[in-house]
Amino acid sequence: MIQVKEIRAQPLHCRAMKTTTANAGLVEKYAAPVPRYTSYPTAPHFHNGVDGATYGRWLDALDERSKLSLYLHIPYCDTLCWFCGCHTKITRRHTPVTEYLVALMAEVEIVAERARQAGEVTHVHWGGGSPTILSADEIVALTKALRSNFRFGEHAEFAVEIDPRGLDGDRIAALGRAGVTRASLGVQDLDPKVQVAINRVQPYEETRDVVVQLREQGVRSLNLDLIYGLPHQTVDGIRDTITRCAALRPDRIALFGYAHVPWMKTHQRLIDETVLPGLHERFEQSQAAAEQLEREGYLPIGLDHYARAEDGLAQAAQAGTLRRNFQGYTTDGADALIGLGASAIGKMPQGYVQNSPAIADYRRKSLNGELATVRGVELTDDDRVRADIIEQLMCDFRFDLGDVQERFGTAAGPVIADAERIAASDEDGLIELEDGRFEIPPHGRPFVRSICAAFDAHLGRSEARHSAAV
Ligand SMILES: C[S@@+](CC[C@H](N)C(=O)[O-])C[C@H]1O[C@@H](n2cnc3c(N)ncnc32)[C@H](O)[C@@H]1O
Ligand code: SF4
Repeated sequence: MIQVKEIRAQPLHCRAMKTTTANAGLVEKYAAPVPRYTSYPTAPHFHNGVDGATYGRWLDALDERSKLSLYLHIPYCDTLCWFCGCHTKITRRHTPVTEYLVALMAEVEIVAERARQAGEVTHVHWGGGSPTILSADEIVALTKALRSNFRFGEHAEFAVEIDPRGLDGDRIAALGRAGVTRASLGVQDLDPKVQVAINRVQPYEETRDVVVQLREQGVRSLNLDLIYGLPHQTVDGIRDTITRCAALRPDRIALFGYAHVPWMKTHQRLIDETVLPGLHERFEQSQAAAEQLEREGYLPIGLDHYARAEDGLAQAAQAGTLRRNFQGYTTDGADALIGLGASAIGKMPQGYVQNSPAIADYRRKSLNGELATVRGVELTDDDRVRADIIEQLMCDFRFDLGDVQERFGTAAGPVIADAERIAASDEDGLIELEDGRFEIPPHGRPFVRSICAAFDAHLGRSEARHSAAV
């Protein structure tokens, strides 16, 4: 068995693989929760030794060759989905959102001033929470603040996460005017019984109408988010959800395994655990969903994304240039990811930084003219090698030992020794190591997170509990 430092089990899935007795055994064996590896080291290893002063120095060190990616976090929604694992707050009043926006725009100015010598912005992503809680005027004002403080590249991508429920024409038009190039819509599942069980009633027609209007407003690239492993979900129901979603012809579909972490997200206790699919049902759902997506013409990308062949993500996967960051799989190869907003995480050449997750503290710092960083981690040489290998495995399911040796020199030594040890300890045929190429064959891919965990030198050094690996 591949040796992973002890933590609790997580959900696995990816390309379609028939559920057999043999892999049913693997599902149980590798069910231990492991991180999703949207960063390495992962967020539980961030510490308060990295603060605003550190981040300020890192921003100062950017130069005009450094391309920037901006992530803006809007941590508000108007209703609570019981499954939600995002960093968000429910508000029925708009005042907190408007007050937050003032602080966010202040932070935009502070950070842009500190990074004024940096290169142009190639990617922008608004996430949440629900960025579409902003009014039409606020969407336009925030975009103006970004464009007047940072230099945008001519072909900069601009992606926004959207909750289609109750989204009116004014806000959709504002997204078009703001120059949004891609919208990502939360759908989750179309079965009314599932929707009631997760407190998110969203008729298909509502999603369809938002898709049509976004296209009319010139937002050409669309992604839909789906989840498996939700209460009352069935294989047939997921297939039906996928067929109806595919009929809308989104360029991308993300298929996440429901991360049930009630110890962290206490509102998830509102979900009746007795109607949650078990480990094997989850695995079957993920595999049936993968098969259905492939039948509908979507190519699998990494662990949990699917894209049409002509989409940039599919092309990046084909070309071996796919990347992974906090927003998941991306074509974003910028040198620095600037996180803006409460709890936002940034990635600088030197390491990771995270803003204060407490909205009041974030607002106070930003309105005081201070950087709102409260934790982070500076990368060691060893971290850089492991981060590189883990990202390659999560994106391409393979890496080349010689290439790693060449790029990282002596720092690669212990990690290459780990790769050989990990491959030798694999009793389940999940890894192939031949001619200096470490590769996870198709039947091992649902277990990629567990294989990455075997390279994680920090795992087990924090109290973090993760979600299921399948
Ligand atoms: C910020 S939300 C998307 C925008 C908007 N808030 C919405 O829900 O429509 C990001 C996505 O994360 C996924 N998500 C949220 N909580 C999750 C959980 N506990 N497990 C798996 N996926 C989850 C959902 O698919 C959701 O669409
Ligand atoms: S899933 Fe989206 S809309 Fe629902 S509470 Fe979470 S962030 Fe808000």
